[in-house]
Order: sequence, then structure tokens, then C-alpha cells
Amino acid sequence: MRPDTPRLEIRDLVRSYGGRRVVDDVSLSIQPGQVTCLLGPSGCGKSTTLRIIAGVEMQDAGEIFVDGNLICDTVFRVPPERRSIGLMFQDFALFPHLTVADNVAFGLSGPKPARRARAMELLERVSLAHYADDYPHALSGGEQQRVALARALAPKPRIMLMDEPFSGLDNRLRDGIRDETLTLLKEVDTAVLLVTHEPQEAMRMADEIALMRDGRIVQQGAPYNIYNAPVDKAAVAFFSDINVIRGTVNGALTETPFGRFLAPGVPDGAEVDIVFRPQHVGIDFDRNGHGPNPTAREGVAARGVVERARFLGNESLVEFRMDFDGSTLKATVPNVFLPARGTPLWLTVRRDRCFVFPARGAV
Ligand SMILES: Nc1ncnc2c1ncn2[C@@H]1O[C@H](COP(=O)(O)OP(=O)(O)OP(=O)(O)O)[C@@H](O)[C@H]1O
Ligand SMILES: [Mg+2]
Repeated sequence: MRPDTPRLEIRDLVRSYGGRRVVDDVSLSIQPGQVTCLLGPSGCGKSTTLRIIAGVEMQDAGEIFVDGNLICDTVFRVPPERRSIGLMFQDFALFPHLTVADNVAFGLSGPKPARRARAMELLERVSLAHYADDYPHALSGGEQQRVALARALAPKPRIMLMDEPFSGLDNRLRDGIRDETLTLLKEVDTAVLLVTHEPQEAMRMADEIALMRDGRIVQQGAPYNIYNAPVDKAAVAFFSDINVIRGTVNGALTETPFGRFLAPGVPDGAEVDIVFRPQHVGIDFDRNGHGPNPTAREGVAARGVVERARFLGNESLVEFRMDFDGSTLKATVPNVFLPARGTPLWLTVRRDRCFVFPARGAV
């Protein structure tokens, strides 16, 4: 096996239901110790992809390899229990009639003392050894989750498939458990494919994000790249609120109330969307009907009137009705900034944080 052989590789996976391709030519590879998040809206085919890899569902086309060895195509199929794949799903069910330690030892083979020792080792790791001889119902949701994780890891799976495993937990508990889980998985060098529809979870967990839409992977890369170099408007919108201004291209440039934007490769007369996130909008006060002078970084300011301002904790969200066309733009401002409705203010846009897309595209 070459040193760079992926732990898990799927090639051109296809699955249709009733003539509709819900998994449409999906390819992915994950190295040992790497966490890839399959991120996308509800119904885009994430769980189906996971179920095919787990072997509980068959693909119509495509292959799956583990450490370079074919484990499944449309003819040949290693059964699920021999794939060395650990599973952790949202509705992880512990066996209520087994103790915590027996739950963790459940998937292990060999003599009982060795299985018990391995279960205890894992329970130590998730700080639950003191519950070993209790039954699951005596544990909180978060503790049960950690038991489920210990159970999934006990057989030392080479691959871990996780389907929204943290969605049943409350927010505060979730962050801690996510981080603990990640540490554990990295320690044992497992390749992880984690399904989520929450961008924040994906950003927190992933080495790589595969953004999925309508059965296809539309973009794949490190969280930083997906966030900062999105492929289209929908990819921007998946991670945050967005603002959009429409412009027409002339000489690879488009003129807007915020100044000119480059639109390389777009033909004259075509429309483009200039897309930016509310946190990249700057706000300045009105000085007798004038705004700040244009700058290279932020271009020209445009005037708007506050329509609504809401306090969100770490930041405030302010919505403006823009003078230039009556459209609404949003800005987030750190801390408390709650100007009264009707206050005129001047908006600028971080030009290096704007994305220019041809004005078709999804959303
Ligand atoms: N057994 C099935 N028979 C028919 N259609 C199915 C079946 N399983 C899934 N689908 C359809 O395939 C599509 C993808 O489903 P899937 O469960 O993979 O979505 P998902 O991305 O996991 O969504 P969610 O985030 O809501 O869990 C959905 O439209 C679903 O209705
Ligand atoms: Mg799902």
C-alpha cells in the first residue's frame, strides 16, 4: 500500500429512487486521521451516501475502497460487519438491558476479560468508567452519547461514519462533546466521515468540507477555502446571511452604488450578482447628507436608512433600506449597536470580501 493511499475512497457513487438521483456521482477520499464533513441541506443525499458506505444500502453505480482495496461495487460486496467501519448516528440506541460496560463491549470478540478490559479503557477515555456497571437509563443524554462513541470506537474501526451525531444534545454540552470526540478520533487515526447540515459544526470539526446539494458535491476543500472562496451564491448563503446587488457588466467591470467591481471573463451586457456577508459591511454616520470619502479597500459609500436593529449577543444585526433602489441590506456590527429606525447611515463594503457571480446560479 502506498503511503498516501486514502483510508476511504468512494468513486462515482450513484443511487436513484423512483428515477431521481439522490446520490449523483459522488466521489470522496479521506486519509487516516482526517475528518471530512459532508455538509448540505436536508434531503440532499447525505445519509444515503453514508448508508451506502456502511453497506446497509446498495449503490446503482460506483465503487468503495478501504486502504486501496475494493470493498463494494455493483457486483462484489463485503458485508457491513466485515468493513471495519464504526457507525454513530443521531438516534444511537444503547441497549437498555445491558450495562454501560457491556454496551461498549458489545461489538468485540474474544474472551470476556479482554473485552471487559477494552471496554473499560474506552470508558476511561470518555471519563465514564465510574458508570461501567450502571444501566443506560441512569445516564444523561450527553453521557449516553459518550458511551455510544466509546462503543463505536471499541473495535478500533478504520473508518468512522457519523450521521448528525450531536444533534440531540443541547448547545453547551455539544461543543464539549464535539471537541472530545475529535480528540479521541484523531488519537486512533480513524478516517471520519461526518454528516451534518450545520455549517458551524462542519467548520468546527472538519479538516475538509464536502458541500453537497441535490445529490452532488458542489465544492470540496478546507473550511477556510469553502468559506472564503465559495463556488456560487448558494455556497455563500449556506454559511451566513447574504447581501446581493445586481449589476451589468461593461468591459469586465460592473458599476454599482458601492463603486466598481471586477467581473473578469463575463461578457458585456451580462448581469452579475455581487454577493457579500453582513459582517463585511461597514457603517458610518451621516454628515449633513454626506458619507465618508471613497477608499481603495471599501470603495464608495451608499446611504441607507435603518429599518430594524436587533441585538444578538456578540453582535447586532442592522437592516437598511437603501436609498439607491429601496432594497434591503444587512450589516452585523460587533457589540451593541442599536440605532433607531429611520436613522440615515452610510454603508461601505469590504471589496476583498465580495464575490461576483454570473446572475443565474441557484439560491
Ligand atoms: N428508501 C428510500 N426510498 C425513497 N426515497 C428515499 C429513500 N431514502 C431516501 N430517500 C430520498 O432521498 C433523498 C435524500 O435522502 P437523505 O436521507 O440521504 O437526505 P439527507 O441529506 O440525509 O437529509 P437530512 O439532512 O434531512 O437527514 C430524500 O429526498 C429522501 O426522501
Ligand atoms: Mg440525513
